[in-house]
Amino acid sequence: MMLVRHFYVSQIAGDVTEVDVQVILGTAQMTNRRLDLTGMLAQGEGYFAQVLEGRSVAVAALMARIRRDPRHRDVRTLLEEPIQRRQFARWAMGLVQRDDMSAAMRDAHRHGCPDELHARRLMQALLDSPP
Ligand SMILES: Cc1cc2nc3c(=O)[nH]c(=O)nc-3n(C[C@H](O)[C@H](O)[C@H](O)COP(=O)(O)O)c2cc1C
Repeated sequence: MMLVRHFYVSQIAGDVTEVDVQVILGTAQMTNRRLDLTGMLAQGEGYFAQVLEGRSVAVAALMARIRRDPRHRDVRTLLEEPIQRRQFARWAMGLVQRDDMSAAMRDAHRHGCPDELHARRLMQALLDSPP
């Protein structure tokens, strides 16, 4: 069984409300538990960033659905890597509010990350220790 981690940043659609985000979270928690997927969703001003962990086929199938989701656009993958073990094993999907990281999310969305190290650092900064 091959475990992978996928980390992306996207631009939130203009009409998305707080309620919409709660609905996304509810769907995610239910579906992810069933598919043995784990991860975290960060929300900044205008941007989502999400990390998903699980079996590569399950992550790929979900990413295909997420890319088509009209509640955000321009899903930009920052990191996609095989992993030995999960970092967010306790969460089917958690949400962290990171308005303080909006500028970093915007930069990563516009320009990507120069290398994997930067991507990993951004992921840790966003998701590892919620404020
Ligand atoms: C930012 C964002 C993150 C999402 N994360 C998940 C997730 O972790 N798990 C999930 O099942 N759906 C997630 N969704 C919802 C999916 O895009 C999709 O609506 C859901 O899987 C149902 O797919 P379907 O309508 O094609 O059946 C997310 C959507 C957005 C906009």
